Order: sequence, then structure tokens, then C-alpha cells
Amino acid sequence: MEVVILADDAAVSRLAAATVSQLVCSRPDAVLGLATGSTPRGMYAEMVRLHREGRLDLSQTTTFNLDEYVGLSPSDPTSYHAYMREALFDHVPVRRWHVPDGLAADIPAACAAYEREIVAAGGIDCQVLGLGHDGHIGFNEPTSSLGSRTRIKTLAPETVEANRRFFEGREVPRHVITMGIGTILESRHCLVLALGEAKASAVAAMVEGPITAMCPASALQMHARVTVVLDEAAASRLSMRDYYRSVYQSKPEWQRVEVDAL
Ligand code: GLP
Repeated sequence: MEVVILADDAAVSRLAAATVSQLVCSRPDAVLGLATGSTPRGMYAEMVRLHREGRLDLSQTTTFNLDEYVGLSPSDPTSYHAYMREALFDHVPVRRWHVPDGLAADIPAACAAYEREIVAAGGIDCQVLGLGHDGHIGFNEPTSSLGSRTRIKTLAPETVEANRRFFEGREVPRHVITMGIGTILESRHCLVLALGEAKASAVAAMVEGPITAMCPASALQMHARVTVVLDEAAASRLSMRDYYRSVYQSKPEWQRVEVDAL
């Protein structure tokens, strides 16, 4: 895993947006895997800014989101459909975007179809991921099979609590549809973002802990190309953080993503 430690949310968001933009510049019809949650908000804001400045064009790009709540319609403001429209798609037109259908009558069939659509699009070139406090990616809670595919999951009580702030007194959904860990591992590049002290333990378990279903993100250690972009607080429990800093500082020019070069 490449671990990049930056000063703050703004720097993480800029590098994440630049990484995605550089991919789309070199391959306009790239397939992006997208995430929701508070962490990637700054990245989307940065992508909208790049688009307004004429430096990012997603009009030939296809996207697939990781997950959606079961039972929420796309027009529900707390759905991930609504999140994605508000954060990105209302501002930056894409060729085609996909978010799992939380209202699907036949959920297993819808999940299988989602997997087929990803394959038909040519697979995901870059999958953006946030990280749950318990080490989940997408909505793959601890003990999820490391080979899992898109399917229905029941949220852990801690995740329901963490999501309560978005529901303003309404009942928080317990069930979700999420890409599986096996689905995520098939992406060509995984770009994991984490911010803040509250994520520090999960980050340390993901990068330096054992590969275990108790920390689903640790499965990313098996992936050939993962970039983990962290602020200082999220990196604070990594025992090898000085090494990661020196690796990043001495990276060859040709491997660098330049945030201002787009
Ligand atoms: C939810 C999402 C994940 C996200 C996680 C962390 O569980 N399904 O994709 O990574 O929340 O959210 P936040 O970025 O708000 O901390």
C-alpha cells in the first residue's frame, strides 16, 4: 500500500481529486467507483471546481457507487442517490452513473445485475473508498466475507449510530446494498481516504494489522495498487508513518500526481 500523509482535509481532497482527474485526462472513458459519507465531500467539491475551470470533463466517464440504503427512494434526501446528485452529478455531467437500487423488488437479482453492469463497463479503473470506524469499506461490516460480492447487508449497531446524524430523527435504515469486498478488490486502483483522529485505529488496522474479516479494509493489503491518503490525525496511530513520509517525499517525478498540473 502507498500511504500518503498530508496536512489536512483540504490537502487530502485536492490530491484525491487530482488523482481522479489525471486518470480521466489520460482516459476520458474511464470507469470510476465512487463513495459517499463525509470524507469524500471535499474531493467532490474540488472536482466541481476543476470542472468549472474547464480542467475536468466527465462526459465520457461511467461511475458506480459502492452502496445504498434499502428502502430509500432515489429522491429521498438521505439516499446515496441524492447525495451523489447534490455533491457531483448536478454540477458535473457524467456519461452514465449507477448507484444500487434501494427499492429493488428482487434484491439478489438487482445485486447480480449490478455486478454484470460493472463487468460490461470494463471493470472499475479507480475505486474511491472511505473507511468506517470499525474498518468497513462500502458497507462491508466486520466478519464480511473477504470474497463477498454485491449483496444485502445488515448494518452493525455502531454504524447505525454513526449514520444517525444524517437522518434527523427519522429511523435509520438497518439494511443496505453494498458492493462486496471481492467486487472492490477487482478494481484496478483503490484510493482510500480517511480524515480525523476517530479513524486512526481503523487506519492502523487496515494498513499495519493482520488481514482479517474483523477489519474488512485490511483485505486491501492483498491488492496490488492501493493509495491511502490521510490527514495527520488519521495517520497518528501508524507505527511506520515516518517511513511512509520519506517514501512519498522521495517518489520519482514520473510517479507523482501533481495537484496543480491539470
Ligand atoms: C458509510 C459509507 C462508507 C463510508 C463510511 C464512513 O458507512 N457506506 O462508504 O466510508 O460511512 O463515513 P464518513 O466518511 O462519513 O466517516
